[in-house]
Amino acid sequence: MASLKNVLVTGGAGYVGSHVIYVLQKTRRYKVISIDNNHNSLSAALARVSQLSKSELPADATEIDWLSTEIDSHTCDLTKPEQIRAVFEKYGKGGIWGVIHIAAYKAVGESTEIPLTYYANNVSASISLLQIMDEFDCNRIVYSSSATVYGTPPIIPIPETTRLQADSPYGKTKVMTETIIEDMCRADKKWCALSLRYFNPAGAHPSGMIGEEPRGRPGNLLPLLAHMAVGRVKDAVLKVFGNDYPTPDGTCVRDYLHIMDLASGHVLALNALGPDSAVFPSDAPAFFKAYNLGKGKGVSVLQIVEAMRKATGFDYKYEIIGRRGGDVPDLTADPTLAEKELGFTAPADLETMCRDLWNFQSKHPLGYSEQ
Ligand code: WQD
Repeated sequence: MASLKNVLVTGGAGYVGSHVIYVLQKTRRYKVISIDNNHNSLSAALARVSQLSKSELPADATEIDWLSTEIDSHTCDLTKPEQIRAVFEKYGKGGIWGVIHIAAYKAVGESTEIPLTYYANNVSASISLLQIMDEFDCNRIVYSSSATVYGTPPIIPIPETTRLQADSPYGKTKVMTETIIEDMCRADKKWCALSLRYFNPAGAHPSGMIGEEPRGRPGNLLPLLAHMAVGRVKDAVLKVFGNDYPTPDGTCVRDYLHIMDLASGHVLALNALGPDSAVFPSDAPAFFKAYNLGKGKGVSVLQIVEAMRKATGFDYKYEIIGRRGGDVPDLTADPTLAEKELGFTAPADLETMCRDLWNFQSKHPLGYSEQ
């Protein structure tokens, strides 16, 4: 009987992590270990992921199928190496096949206010994780990077060959960690790594059972609009951070892709990690590559507001205020490399993203923790 490969997902209880774990479980090839410090997530999310996966098992599900819907969940502060090591010790040398490293602080604006916290949590903690992975003969990693590594890119849509020049401390933590992983892969070809540069994930699993549940007030536009529509945020007016950017309507443009399409991209990346990696020639100088995960379609802040007005029926009011620190005018992906080499696609349109987001939020008006 084929056994499941143990895969560790950091940030597993988060918005991206919970959807990645769901699609991993759908493959019936992996047993998931999740670590999360629940700084911006709720462990209740993992119970819902398992519940959803179990509900979709076939009537003749095998023991392996059931096992693949179990999550070994650990509350773990990645800035404390001893907590990471304890998880690896549970599985022993070679016991964890690979890691999907998602855990990070991710608010562009906030990172300009508390940069040291971002460098500690996003860079130092990643170094600790990589060192412990190596100690336990675990040398495969899918790294959650970000379009913010491009800063203000010279061309739109953005290809992966664009020079990395992040404008915010958050983006710089992503550039630094990508560089660390690439150098590690160059130094030793036992390492195999793919860095996935997320554009803007949006929406929720169509069932409405899992979705984005940030702790406290959402920092990102879409969850904030959803919270306004269910009354969890009492703001009568949305603050739009600037309309003097060189974009069609003056507000920032982002490349929104459905969270399910983003999550599926992680399975494609994990499957491409080898041992005989499908995306690297054997004579490659290093088994390291970065891919954009985006739709390749730019949408402005005001267009998002309009799309959410249609999805929720909520009459949003907004006022234009000053720019937010760290924001750049346009981050729209050229996704053709991931499409060609990973088979990645992001077919869901904006209407579907907003509909699924609203379906989740209206089912959980008070969020997971209150229900
Ligand atoms: C989008 C636009 C704001 C709130 C996010 C993640 C980041 C990365 C990419 C993964 C910006 C504007 C927002 C508000 C506004 N994901 N806005 N009023 O900054 O693109 O980054 O996606 O790596 O980690 O944080 O997304 O939703 O914060 O902002 O006008 O109240 O909406 O200025 O132009 P962002 P966002």
